[in-house]
Parts: sequence; C-alpha cells; structure tokens
Amino acid sequence: MTTITVCDTCNFSTDQKLLDGKAGGEILAEHVEALAAKGITVRRQSCLMGCDRHCNIAIQGEGKLSYVLGKFTPDAEAAQAIIDYATAYDASESGQVPYKQWPQGVKGHFVARIPPLKQAD
Ligand code: FES
Repeated sequence: MTTITVCDTCNFSTDQKLLDGKAGGEILAEHVEALAAKGITVRRQSCLMGCDRHCNIAIQGEGKLSYVLGKFTPDAEAAQAIIDYATAYDASESGQVPYKQWPQGVKGHFVARIPPLKQAD
C-alpha cells in the first residue's frame, strides 16, 4: 500500500495564496484524490514545512524509501504525474523507481529521500 500525503495549505502560486477561495494545496489534493488508483491512498496534511516550494507532497510505503516532492503547480497534469509515479513506487520492492520510469512531470520536483525505519527483530 502506498500513501500520498498532499499538503492542503500550500499557496496557489508565488504571489497568490488562494484561487476561488481554495489554497493551491487544496486544489492539488482534489486532483490527486480524483485520480487515485488502486493501491494508492491519499491523505491531506496542513503544512509539510516546505512552504517556499509549494505545492508539496510526500510518498510513503511500509518498509520503503519515502520521498518528498515540491514545486508542483496545482493542476490535473501535476496530479497525474504524481499518481503515475506513486503507481510505479507501489510496484517497486524498495520504493526506488528506475529513472527511465519517472513521469516527466515529477522530474525536478524531488526535495528529499528518507530511508525506511529498520524493523525490530
Ligand atoms: S503550507 Fe504547504 S508545506 Fe507549508
């Protein structure tokens, strides 16, 4: 199971917090939720502490590498790239998706990679 966490309070753009009363992150979350595929859970979090790089998301799976991505425009195209990447992540053993499988829309958006916690013996 793969979880995408979408910050729902990120700005819409550099000089605009809201569009039609919604934060950019809320708009991105709606797009990602609408496209979520089998095996992908989407949840919202208010602020992932990467506000300057809006819009931000995180991708996590049990026992896998975790990734933080940012600088997304809150639209359907970005959401599709996030879902496509999360689908490839879900299919991978370690969470590491080969570069040639990366959707164009996630390239240049990676902020951090975090190793999984070690399982207790
Ligand atoms: S408001 Fe989205 S990371 Fe802070």
